[in-house]
Amino acid sequence: MDKNYIPVKYTGVKNTARLIKEIGLENAIIELASYIEDDYKRWDQFDLSPRYASHTPDGVLELMPISDGEKFSFKYVNGHPKNFKNGLMTVVAFGVLSDVKTGYPQLLSEMTLGTALRTSATSALAAKYLSRKNSKKMAIIGLGSQSEFQAYAFKALLGISDLQVFDIDEKAIEKFRKNLAGQNFRIKLASSAEAAVAGADIITTVTADKKQATILSDNMIGNGVHINGIGGDCPGKTELQKSIVARSNVFVELEEQSRIEGEIQQMDENFPVTELWQVIKGEATGRKTQDEITLFDSVGFALEDFSYLRFINDKIKDARFTEFYKEIDLITAPDDPRDLFSFLNSE
Ligand SMILES: NC(=O)c1ccc[n+]([C@@H]2O[C@H](COP(=O)([O-])OP(=O)(O)OC[C@H]3O[C@@H](n4cnc5c(N)ncnc54)[C@H](O)[C@@H]3O)[C@@H](O)[C@H]2O)c1
Repeated sequence: MDKNYIPVKYTGVKNTARLIKEIGLENAIIELASYIEDDYKRWDQFDLSPRYASHTPDGVLELMPISDGEKFSFKYVNGHPKNFKNGLMTVVAFGVLSDVKTGYPQLLSEMTLGTALRTSATSALAAKYLSRKNSKKMAIIGLGSQSEFQAYAFKALLGISDLQVFDIDEKAIEKFRKNLAGQNFRIKLASSAEAAVAGADIITTVTADKKQATILSDNMIGNGVHINGIGGDCPGKTELQKSIVARSNVFVELEEQSRIEGEIQQMDENFPVTELWQVIKGEATGRKTQDEITLFDSVGFALEDFSYLRFINDKIKDARFTEFYKEIDLITAPDDPRDLFSFLNSE
């Protein structure tokens, strides 16, 4: 690249997909989960804040910043449940990883795939700490963009390949079945959410609707299950009946953010929750009994995006994977650092 630019690495959708295929999806999720686990263990080193969220009647636009003092990252992400009616996705995203010392960006990455990867890796990581050790069956309610990633993550980290699944949309069910065919999953297509959760040890809810929905009602939930609640991630957007939350031992990412966005927005401000990092670091107990219901009330937190960007940044430094990024002229480097105007004078 021309000496008057400092190259920034760019991992777009095509290269990210190629990279993940090259590593192997399950291996990538396992490795990414270890990055997330390591970062949750050093929680105190991070400058943490709830995300910025701009709400509209159709959805939300969010910025998710975080820094560990050496690197800074942010993700731009939306959430528009009605987008599918116009042939668009509910969630799209991109992110940046920067060097704190100079403030210069180093990596610009697509993060639509990245969000699905890091969300599923975080879900399975949380379940590793919170679900019953003998868990064998998972129900998935909501078979949209995130769903196959969730299935793969639970297979990779917990060895769960027995799935009972449900969606209100026949097309989504068929897509899910096709995408996972021949991948060593045993999939039971259920006729209702209630039928899907019957006998499941772990229940993942990953639906999209901008309202207080009741995907799971109290009578559907038996003792000892672990609920991985993914879709309730915005003010006014929940998936669980309040009484399920009340019965559960609840774990969240950043309490301050989850009180506004998670299932616990339904509860009063003193409702007890534990932050996941405390369990991962060994400072709090996760599941206390075989009979209790554990709920990972996930809304998605900036630390998981930071871990993802760190993972990708490390990967593309590896000689085996250098073909999976491009360099772009995002940052100027004039001969005289105070002569920005020279760019307008050059050919
Ligand atoms: N917690 C996190 O970190 C995180 C990360 C990514 C996405 N999300 C959230 O997860 C949800 C799903 O995301 P996506 O990208 O898969 O969305 P998507 O629109 O691709 O899929 C949503 C699916 O839910 C189904 N659905 C809607 N209502 C349902 C119901 N009542 N019963 C059964 N199925 C129902 C839809 O038919 C669709 O197939 C969204 O709400 C999104 O905001 C959370």
